[in-house]
Amino acid sequence: MIDTTELSIDLPDEQSTIAFGGRLAQVCKPPLRIYLSGELGAGKTTLSRGFLRGLGHPGNVKSPTYTLVEPYEFDSVMVFHFDLYRVADPEELAYMGFEDYLMTPAVLLVEWAERGGDWLPQPDLLVHLSLTGGGRNLSLSWGSEEGKQVCRQLIAEA
Ligand SMILES: Nc1ncnc2c1ncn2[C@@H]1O[C@H](COP(=O)(O)OP(=O)(O)OP(=O)(O)O)[C@@H](O)[C@H]1O
Ligand SMILES: [Mg+2]
Repeated sequence: MIDTTELSIDLPDEQSTIAFGGRLAQVCKPPLRIYLSGELGAGKTTLSRGFLRGLGHPGNVKSPTYTLVEPYEFDSVMVFHFDLYRVADPEELAYMGFEDYLMTPAVLLVEWAERGGDWLPQPDLLVHLSLTGGGRNLSLSWGSEEGKQVCRQLIAEA
């Protein structure tokens, strides 16, 4: 079961979403499943960009809308960034070998995880973004002990 929200953060501009992604990356150890939820344009890809840049990715980060997944390899960690927006039938996840990703000791960042239906297990960490005026509000909840530890560390640093 996903626990109740423990952390709520205001992100007034794009830069603060990127900065939070970077902070999150510093406290995440694989294997970890992070689902990013929130409506179109909520900032899920922006946060993923901050996460990947925080680990040292120098280039652009585009949402893998058509390829569904984009791999990133760092010295100490593998990250797979998913965008399941175009998944019409959760069965498609079987065709793409999603189960193999779940067994890889990597960090999975998943946008639009809800499109995977029952195919996706509970996340360790659920990051929800919502629009607030011009900015965003972020809330964090966890679905495992590992996810809880990540939240604890973020709170300790805040
Ligand atoms: N905290 C913020 N305040 C204001 N604008 C933001 C903030 N974070 C991100 N944005 C802006 O929101 C826009 C949409 O962001 P992004 O593409 O990351 O959304 P998304 O949730 O990935 O959307 P989609 O569901 O289409 O994949 C971008 O122009 C980005 O600069
Ligand atoms: Mg996106």
